[in-house]
Amino acid sequence: MLLPDEPSVVTSLRRRLGGIAFGGDYNPEQWPEEVWAEDARLMKEAGVNLATIGVFSWARVQSAPGVFDFDWLDRVLDLMAAHGVAVDLATMTASPPPWLTTLHPQILPVRADGVTLSPGGRQHFNPSSAAYREHAAYLVTALATRYADHPALALWHIGNEYGIHVAASYDDESAIAFRGWLRDRYTDIDTLNDAWSTAFWSQRYSDFEQILPPRIAPTLPNPTQQLDFARFSDDALLACYNAEREILRAITPDVPATTNFLYLHKPVNVQRWAPHMDLASLDSYPDPAKPDARLDAGLAYDILRGARGGQPWFLMEQAPAAVNWRAVNLRKRPGQMRLWSWQAVAQGADAVLYFQWRQSRGGAEKFHSGMVPHTGEQTRTFAEVRELGAELARVPGLAGTRVAAPVALLLDWDSWWALELDSRPSAAVDQLGSLAHFYAPLFESGAAVDVVHPDADLDGYRLVIAPNLYLLRPETAQRLDAWVRAGGHLAVSFFSGVVDDCDRVHLGGYLGPLAETLGVSVEEFVPLPIQDAVNGTVTGVAGAATPNSWSRSGVVPGSSVRLAFDDGAGPGDHAEATGTIWSEAVHLRGARQIARFADGDVSGWPAVTRHDRGAGTAWYLATRPDAATTSALLRRMLDEAGVEPPLPDLPEGVQVSVRQGQGERYVILLNHSTRRQTVPLPDGLTIEIGDGAGEVDLPAFGVAVLRGSL
Ligand code: GLA
Repeated sequence: MLLPDEPSVVTSLRRRLGGIAFGGDYNPEQWPEEVWAEDARLMKEAGVNLATIGVFSWARVQSAPGVFDFDWLDRVLDLMAAHGVAVDLATMTASPPPWLTTLHPQILPVRADGVTLSPGGRQHFNPSSAAYREHAAYLVTALATRYADHPALALWHIGNEYGIHVAASYDDESAIAFRGWLRDRYTDIDTLNDAWSTAFWSQRYSDFEQILPPRIAPTLPNPTQQLDFARFSDDALLACYNAEREILRAITPDVPATTNFLYLHKPVNVQRWAPHMDLASLDSYPDPAKPDARLDAGLAYDILRGARGGQPWFLMEQAPAAVNWRAVNLRKRPGQMRLWSWQAVAQGADAVLYFQWRQSRGGAEKFHSGMVPHTGEQTRTFAEVRELGAELARVPGLAGTRVAAPVALLLDWDSWWALELDSRPSAAVDQLGSLAHFYAPLFESGAAVDVVHPDADLDGYRLVIAPNLYLLRPETAQRLDAWVRAGGHLAVSFFSGVVDDCDRVHLGGYLGPLAETLGVSVEEFVPLPIQDAVNGTVTGVAGAATPNSWSRSGVVPGSSVRLAFDDGAGPGDHAEATGTIWSEAVHLRGARQIARFADGDVSGWPAVTRHDRGAGTAWYLATRPDAATTSALLRRMLDEAGVEPPLPDLPEGVQVSVRQGQGERYVILLNHSTRRQTVPLPDGLTIEIGDGAGEVDLPAFGVAVLRGSL
């Protein structure tokens, strides 16, 4: 969905903040009150202008039904107002207090295997629980009423990372809600039987009352039941968000609301949620141990920005240094926190916020870094925080500017869910892996990418790539076809267009409704053997994906096939070109062969094709080519589509991004490498942040912000 116009409440928030928001989660209830004054002093020193307060304060503000203690929170908000720090006030519903789950144990979520999750951690609520929703609504009403006119209140923070620990509950109350959801979707039981293909394995229902969530079954549960349960569970979480949002909108119509999405989190359909927010925000925890962590982060940012039609978004949380929840928690190296913060800004963020302000003394996250570490203010971490706060304040005009992307990657959450269900031709085909496969070379090329739903308005894009768009509605295929015929450049990878919205195969040749656009048809899948990383064996179709699993970890590509590019057709020298994961029997139906499989079971069959369609072009990739081949193919596609990189010949490891608006343009250069690099200073730009004359000097992890007029 395209949301070009930012809500006016967000414009007002930006004016109030005066530029990029800077700050983080502040949990004063974990500290004696004497510490608060020091917090306020240090916040000022660090340039903090926004603090997220109360995310886990439910038990502190409410000790029993109807018994509230807001006095301490009044004092915290007064302190913030007195120090010019705006407050992103949380609705506190992310962790129900012990008295509530004692009173209503049915609030506790139940796993697919029937185990009830106990309190003692956080997020122990069943999203469909009426008791949870009632108590949450009561609390949110009390909070909004109390703070509606408080001068510190600037933004509402609803819940926290919905679905991070509990994305679905399989209990009886959820079963009733699921049946209601299915009645709304299908109206009558025969329509559901048809959609779910229940003629298979004697699964036919004669009444909605017989339907259960896809609990652990003797073998593979019905795939459409699983798909619909993923949709339902996501809707149940969204309904929790919306119920709170409605209360807040009624009491504080001028205060925008958000919730913080979790980074690349499959159960929560960000594209479906985004239109329900005034402002989208994201928590980003790239792993410093991963050399390509910038790509994970970049992909997550481009998904979020794409979901909001290009609007700026908030980086709601990141670690100042280390997290506490990996096996080994590498800290960010000196300069890396600054670099990664600027990466978020380069890709459209209007806020750089952290988890959390002051590092906890006790509890499960005491070894998670804070902006103010255990050791105090005389530390590397606090110094870097303070410097970044000052630096961001030097470019207030950046806030509100936009990234204009010429390339789109297509992602449909329904298709992601369906693609990774059990009993597919290959467990090695995963959505994030295939997105990342195309994202990495595009990122390195400097071409900005929006990740958008296939039904989004594609008119502004020159090149659109559909990685494993497995589930495809005929209407969507028709729109893609019209876009190509009007001059668009489309590239589609294997195992796309295979099923409809109900996970039923499009008959008559795979690729179904896209076959004509691509000028090919697929007769038979020939997936390649994969390596089971857990057992170290090479298998055919491995049972690595278990029923009800959300993740496909443990499966890595095993063997490959050689690809031969036709004379003059290949973009460069591809003597060594290979494909992994997949091969298949492709028939040309109007498209031209660019490369063929050169060994394996389908040796001689087309592997890469190109089809002139109307004024446009449609490419098809019947395998996952190696990285160099993919890069070369993408270079050719970008050239043909007329996409120019913002700066030519960027050194390796240097990211470039352009944000523009209000007659101004900012070019942000980020050196992700540990080598010093230089980039010629383009005409018409001056260095706002960074060093150099004639050329921009980028030390290891260096950042430069250039400014010019449009
Ligand atoms: C998430 C949560 C925070 C905190 C951090 C730690 O992002 O929202 O409350 O637990 O993780 O990394």
